[in-house]
Amino acid sequence: MTDKYTEFVSRGAGRDIARKLGLPQPVVLRRYAPGRPLVEGPVLVQGSGTGADELASILLSWRLDVRRHAVPREKLGAIILVLDGLARPEDLEKPVLGAAASLRDLAPNARVVIISRSAAGAPDPAVAAARQGVDGLLRSLAKELRAGATGNGILLTAAAGTTSPGTLGALQFFLSGRSAFVDGQFLTVTSGLGQLPDDAGTPLAGKVAVVTGAARGIGAAIARTLYRDGARLVVVDVPAAGGDLAKVANEVHGTALQLDISREDAGQRIIGHAVERHGRLDIVVHNAGITRDKLLVNMGQDRWNAVIAVNLAAQLRINAALLASVHFRSSPRIVSVASTSGIAGNRGQANYAASKAGVIGMVRATAPLLAAHGGSINAVAPGFIETAMTARMPFATREVARRLNSLQQGGEPGDVAEAIAFLASDAAGGISGEVLRVCGQNLVGA
Ligand code: NAI
Repeated sequence: MTDKYTEFVSRGAGRDIARKLGLPQPVVLRRYAPGRPLVEGPVLVQGSGTGADELASILLSWRLDVRRHAVPREKLGAIILVLDGLARPEDLEKPVLGAAASLRDLAPNARVVIISRSAAGAPDPAVAAARQGVDGLLRSLAKELRAGATGNGILLTAAAGTTSPGTLGALQFFLSGRSAFVDGQFLTVTSGLGQLPDDAGTPLAGKVAVVTGAARGIGAAIARTLYRDGARLVVVDVPAAGGDLAKVANEVHGTALQLDISREDAGQRIIGHAVERHGRLDIVVHNAGITRDKLLVNMGQDRWNAVIAVNLAAQLRINAALLASVHFRSSPRIVSVASTSGIAGNRGQANYAASKAGVIGMVRATAPLLAAHGGSINAVAPGFIETAMTARMPFATREVARRLNSLQQGGEPGDVAEAIAFLASDAAGGISGEVLRVCGQNLVGA
């Protein structure tokens, strides 16, 4: 599904018309492609303390064009603001207003990343207040950025510092085109685990990944992205989608497993297939999902049960099998697809929202269980994504839904896939139990 409006207003006369009429002015986003630089333009690292200094020297080792002080009127590819030593709200002013002066120098599609400490576990109320203040600051700042620029945050915990692998992994993700449709979001680094890849082009080399619901839509995009990143694939879908599934399997040089994931033995079937055909199993992406929308007042048992069975109960059962298996013990990674409906709610989707909120609860509670094997589990919550499903929406509803976010456009299936590929990689090994929204900072429930 193409967004003709975004193409029209991205250049020349279209841009002028949109500006004069005060219409939304989305731009074509900078997306990842192998070989592209991490950031286009100089990176300004601000913030006092050793954290900012250490980070700046790591960025230099990544061959980025690093600045510690703004150069007047120089166009910036990114601003990184390190606020890891906040002790009271008054500490915010100097670094925040210092960095604010450089915001007007951001190039189109630039990045702002704030690195600070999680307020949970703060030693006293003043520290917690200062740390929590960053949340409102970042979310507002992201809403003020224009021309495809995004703002995101990394929260450090007691177990992680500015140079922990998870912090650096999250920083690379937020700086790169992989996070094009992630805006106004935080990732918490929950442990010192994880490892940056030897080869940034193939971070999943040597891994075997299973993707459910991979015959079409977002699932097919996930399979393609994991393949591009070096993984070997098992693609799963219902037997009725066998033809399309075979095509995706061929495209990604993987194997197809026709399976209804709500079957009792789905977990065993998945593990058996991966081990038999590929010798191992490292990553499981729970993407298969269904909608059966109806206002709650008219909701029957069928719609309620079908959605809970596929979207939530199946994932729980498969995870139980994975946790019990000796074949899923070497830094195993699970990524579940939730939805912004599960966070903000959605009229006519009480069953779907309950299932997707349930996925978020499941992910949080499963994280400690996987930690025992050095593993991680996270969820990605997509907002409005341009798929066959959203193409079927009535024109006016679709136009409103796709513009109601800070980037004023819908995301692509590939945007969801990029977030999943990152969370499935060892670079994200220090991040677990988290929910990452891929929604362009949707204004509903943001
Ligand atoms: P889709 O309907 O195009 O694809 C879903 C795939 O899952 C289909 O190939 C289907 O056959 C498969 N599937 C359904 N039930 C299954 C079962 N019992 N066993 C095995 N496979 C099964 O959906 P789309 O849009 O690609 O969505 C993928 C995921 O993203 C879903 O979990 C959905 O809830 C979620 N999502 C999608 C959004 C969007 O804007 N399209 C927004 C938020 C979340």
